[in-house]
Amino acid sequence: MKIAGISGSLRKHSMHRGILRTVAQHLESKGIEFVDVEIGDFPLYNQDVNAAGIPVVVQNAHDVLATADAFVIASPEYNYSISGVLKNALDWFSRIENHAFNGKALSIMGASPGLGTARSQYHLRQVLVFLNAFVVNKPEVMISQANGKFDEQGNLTDESTIEFLDKALTSLINLSNQLNS
Ligand SMILES: Cc1cc2nc3c(=O)[nH]c(=O)nc-3n(C[C@H](O)[C@H](O)[C@H](O)COP(=O)(O)O)c2cc1C
Repeated sequence: MKIAGISGSLRKHSMHRGILRTVAQHLESKGIEFVDVEIGDFPLYNQDVNAAGIPVVVQNAHDVLATADAFVIASPEYNYSISGVLKNALDWFSRIENHAFNGKALSIMGASPGLGTARSQYHLRQVLVFLNAFVVNKPEVMISQANGKFDEQGNLTDESTIEFLDKALTSLINLSNQLNS
């Protein structure tokens, strides 16, 4: 099995990049490959550009996603919704024929100083309906009051949250196996 991760935050010391580092460590301990896919260099979606072809930077990222069996999207909540960079990337990916998300398992994870990205996660689920990704229902990974749970570099340091992410990954792996059986 291979799992790909996308961070909806481009910030160097992003908590969401930190979540993906913890995810990578858990998966490594289970013998599962993890790959981090960058979306920060994608052009803004423009249907005229799309008509001329999928940009190389988008296609290259998608080629990596296509090698994965399941996905983790870790995204901040911006103004009660998902980040613009994440929406932009999903808009591009959705225009690729037989895109990588179709029929595959996906786990949403988020952290914020407030409600743990709860409001934005339901927007993301709605977007992922159109992409026909199968989003893990439980547990929902909404890391609330996150300020004290990450260090200055965005590393997740809260032990109970680190353990919780491991349980969430087990649910993702189980869902992926169910979909493939
Ligand atoms: C433009 C913008 C909008 C934000 N809106 C929200 C919000 O609606 N809800 C929330 O809990 N936090 C909000 N925040 C705070 C983010 O949760 C916080 O900046 C977080 O650290 C972003 O994730 P990151 O560390 O991965 O970059 C917002 C931050 C920015 C920059």
